Amino acid sequence: MNIDNFNADAFLRDYWQKKPLLIKNPWDSWTNPLDPDELAGLACEDDVESRLIEKTDANWRVENGPVPEARFGELGNGNWTLLVQAVDHYVPEVAALIEPFRFIPNWRIDDVMVSCAADQGGVGAHFDQYDVFLIQGLGKRRWRVGGRCDETSALLPHDDLRLLADFQATDEWIVEPGDILYVPPGIAHEGVAVGDNCMTYSIGFRAPSRSELIGDWCDDLLAGMASDDRYGDPDLPLQDNPGEIAPAAIERLHAMVTEALLDRGSFARWFGRYTSTPKYPDMDWRPDAPIELEELRERCAEGIPLSRNPASRFSYIRQGNEAVSLFVDGEFFECAAETAAFARQLCTQTQIALEAEFIKSDAVMELAATLFNQGSIAFA
Ligand code: SIN
Ligand code: CO
Repeated sequence: MNIDNFNADAFLRDYWQKKPLLIKNPWDSWTNPLDPDELAGLACEDDVESRLIEKTDANWRVENGPVPEARFGELGNGNWTLLVQAVDHYVPEVAALIEPFRFIPNWRIDDVMVSCAADQGGVGAHFDQYDVFLIQGLGKRRWRVGGRCDETSALLPHDDLRLLADFQATDEWIVEPGDILYVPPGIAHEGVAVGDNCMTYSIGFRAPSRSELIGDWCDDLLAGMASDDRYGDPDLPLQDNPGEIAPAAIERLHAMVTEALLDRGSFARWFGRYTSTPKYPDMDWRPDAPIELEELRERCAEGIPLSRNPASRFSYIRQGNEAVSLFVDGEFFECAAETAAFARQLCTQTQIALEAEFIKSDAVMELAATLFNQGSIAFA
């Protein structure tokens, strides 16, 4: 499925991170990729993250999954919503929904959450920290959007949900299958199912917080630091008062910290590894026995395409004109010449049939074998 009638350039300029946009069914043809029953089945699985939210009078009840199968029989006509995280990792047809949104860089894309609600079901008025495209899959939903919120916005008292105490809608739409609502971070919104079997696919994004960046970057720096990399003062002058921490000492101490923190090259390499670390490492695609380079070459030559593990994240950083550092699943690979071309192709396609030129190259096949053996790619 593709989205036609959509101008990514104009969207980035006028809406991305700025204001909500309703995109009326822009697909060449829309088919709902997952049945409500299949979603319920996923929510019963141990290693799938899911939640059931039910509204009873003025109370919101949250149950964390796995949801016992019998639970679905008890729900009846209540106002409930089932939410399942990272469904793209389990259902290729759901993963395919991300592809039209690849005009946003891979490292900003999170995963696809799928919800299914009974009539009047919803998760209440709230705001998210991230951008989201909400694709209506099946049934109808009334979306209302409001103003910008932040940490100071008043919330209803609740242990698990961050619901807005005061939600004023400024726009309202009833969406139908194939319609897409884009909501920027911090914008209040509320979706309520109009009729049963209301399915919504949330293409979610991520943006690191400053505190996360500083905390994790420092942890990485610390892990690589030697205990004998220490303050020294071979030029210590006599000072009048032994109590003074002299300006020259502060200067030198401050430089010890900032020199390490300001190393842009190390930061970039760390960030690539950090941002490509999978959120759900359970999607283990590692082969039982490592594949040998020649076996991989032979099978690629037979035309069997390689698929990216949907839980793996692929990104690169340019190094000069052609070379790139490739980041996959928290690992990094320096790539030049044809390996760089292969790396770039891997970052744009979720499935690739290797060209003859790649199959001939030992460097490319070595990289492919490493990625294969670490479970980041496998035969389709
Ligand atoms: C939903 O799918 O019900 C909720 C999605 C959202 O509001 O972020
Ligand atoms: Co939301």
